[in-house]
Amino acid sequence: MRHWNMGRVKLEDKCVLGFVAEEEILRQEEAVLLAHKRLHARGEEGLGWVELPLRRDRQQLDEVIRAAEQIRSHSQAFIIIGIGGSYLGARAGIQMLSHSFREVRPSGPAVYFAGHNASSTYMADLLDLLDDREISINVISKSGTTTEPAIAFRILRDYMERRYGKKKAKERIFVTTDGEKGALKKLADEEGYASFVIPDDVGGRYSVLTPVGLLPMAVAGLDVEEIIKGAADAHSRLGSPDLARNDSYRYAVLRYLLYQKGKMVELLVSYEPSLQYFAEWWKQLFGESEGKEGKGIFPASCLYTTDLHSLGQYVQEGRRILFETVIDIEQPRRKMQIPEDNSDRDGLGYLAGKTMDYVNRQALLGTLLAHTDGGVPNLVLKVPQLSPYHCGELFYFFQKACGLSGYLLGVNPFDQPGVEAYKKNMFALLGKPELAPQRRELQARLEELTPQ
Ligand code: PA5
Repeated sequence: MRHWNMGRVKLEDKCVLGFVAEEEILRQEEAVLLAHKRLHARGEEGLGWVELPLRRDRQQLDEVIRAAEQIRSHSQAFIIIGIGGSYLGARAGIQMLSHSFREVRPSGPAVYFAGHNASSTYMADLLDLLDDREISINVISKSGTTTEPAIAFRILRDYMERRYGKKKAKERIFVTTDGEKGALKKLADEEGYASFVIPDDVGGRYSVLTPVGLLPMAVAGLDVEEIIKGAADAHSRLGSPDLARNDSYRYAVLRYLLYQKGKMVELLVSYEPSLQYFAEWWKQLFGESEGKEGKGIFPASCLYTTDLHSLGQYVQEGRRILFETVIDIEQPRRKMQIPEDNSDRDGLGYLAGKTMDYVNRQALLGTLLAHTDGGVPNLVLKVPQLSPYHCGELFYFFQKACGLSGYLLGVNPFDQPGVEAYKKNMFALLGKPELAPQRRELQARLEELTPQ
């Protein structure tokens, strides 16, 4: 019998109330109501994620679970190819819920990622470890045309076809993409790869609860049904526009008010290393959703206590443009006691018999007070434990907060026009035929910039 869904994610904002007055929060009620209606009316593009956990497409979930079982049964290595919203959610969930060293306690195939960079060294190193293992791959791209995963897929497909032969390789290639368009969809149809559909109305960074995140997480042995249940319960808990009852909206309002007061950078802080990629997922979610039209909080992250020994000085005394959102995990997945040592040469006798988690907690509390005293407002998100259920709840909590935040800020939280600029230059420099004039212009500019 599991008790994963005991308790829920809760926001504590006492360490912010010295920076933001309750009246200021209440003055946002009308704007919140309007934004809430926009999110739920679903009249705009990209809002499919709002009701997604409730849809619980049983057939699709069964297909995902069946494919995951098949992959687990015949693979020692599983490679997830994708970038941005097409890999960060899965990576976040897998890291959050797996043993810190998967090789010690493997649950199914070892999981690797590709297509999230353009590094030849990374790709060559990855191929080195595949030769003596049975492998499967899941290529994920909503557009089906993103360069980095497309290159990685081309290389890995070629590798698999040479190793297994075209027919056998086909049984080990799984595609997650748009239901109708894109080069990947066309390729999948022509080759007959098993495919999963990313719903039209769900954008990349809001897609973790679709097969984009669910298939990789299921292959990693996670209980995806619990993840969806956590998100579905969060959907109903966070369904009210009332700021006293909706912590996700209250979080969005508080960070918006802090931003208005010059707090331009939000640090997502956690004291568990297994949340490193959750922070990466969160950064993409908020960064791509809010950072446009010269606006937006810059999302950054810290892993404490590690970063207290590197960035802590800046947080305590640097420019006062920061606020922190601390994810406080109330119950660690595992406990570890600090042993007795009668000699007490290290001077830690006063901690003997205490748990490491007790130390981690006092570090959290002490830092909370020190940073708040130092002019860094702290929001705290209390999470009962790192379970699949709470993982789903956290994904949904932040997605809802992000949608609302974008609307409060007056931007469209579901587009990302700014990511095209570098791509245009890159494609021109790579020699895409239709961009030949731009290529000449860019090359001339680069010659001026590059010392001869
Ligand atoms: O949130 C987004 O839409 C983006 O970050 C995409 O997820 C990312 O660019 C990858 O795109 P695609 O899935 O089309 O390959």
